[in-house]
Amino acid sequence: MSLFFFVLIVALATYFTLRYRRRVEGEALRPAPHHPLWLEVTWVVIPTLLVLVIFVWGFRGYLRLSIVPAEAYEVKVNGQKWFWSFDYAEGAAVVNEMVVPVGRNVKLLLSSKDVIHSFFVPAFRIKKDVLPNRYSIAWFHATQVGEYDLYCTEYCGSKHSAMLGKVKVVGEREFADWLDAASSAGEGMTPEEYGAKLYQSKACYTCHSLDGSPGNGPTFKGIFGHDVKLADGRSVMVDENYIRESILTPTAKVVAGFQPIMPTYQGLLKDREIDALVAFLKGLK
Ligand code: CUA
Repeated sequence: MSLFFFVLIVALATYFTLRYRRRVEGEALRPAPHHPLWLEVTWVVIPTLLVLVIFVWGFRGYLRLSIVPAEAYEVKVNGQKWFWSFDYAEGAAVVNEMVVPVGRNVKLLLSSKDVIHSFFVPAFRIKKDVLPNRYSIAWFHATQVGEYDLYCTEYCGSKHSAMLGKVKVVGEREFADWLDAASSAGEGMTPEEYGAKLYQSKACYTCHSLDGSPGNGPTFKGIFGHDVKLADGRSVMVDENYIRESILTPTAKVVAGFQPIMPTYQGLLKDREIDALVAFLKGLK
């Protein structure tokens, strides 16, 4: 329909421009012709009807998007510079990769810890601004198992374009197993193993390598028990308290050569999880 009207309007505009152009310099204006009422009524009524049809159609879609079905499964989503975290009622808490069951309505309760982000999953046709100090709500119903890209689509700072995630849609049974495993955090694991698991699930690896190569942040390899030089010229010994402080107040003692870009994990990690990460770092000789 857009193409039809585009061609019609541009073609007529071009034709009239040529047909009724002023041919002679200083030529007098000719009197305007009579207005045929039927033609004017026609070109008002037809587009009005078309636009009304589109309005009703679009408004119903908007309502369907806005009203969350009553029996939806709820996941809490948090956006912050520059990652996504997901909290499940059963206790599971993961970063950047969300797992949801196929064929079920999923409600997202979204909020931000700092600035405005925007939660965008093109495959699900949902996009919602994520604001600090309030909740926004979105929902979807994934019909196919698979991995779908998640983007932040509100410019939120220097690492905005790296604020990427995945939505993993799995079968109902697989979801129950995953939720079970993810919620029984660390049970039957040594603190060191649990720390290794958290290093993955909390996405520490996006900035901190284990092989000695520097990323956005210093590597974790072989730092425990050693002195590091700080950006302000002091140096500090990497011990349990330094690690804890760096997780909860990352800007307090920034290692020389790195930007103070790490977000705080205050409220995102329980004490037990911090203990496990400390144990994990200790083991990285
Ligand atoms: Cu968060 Cu862009």
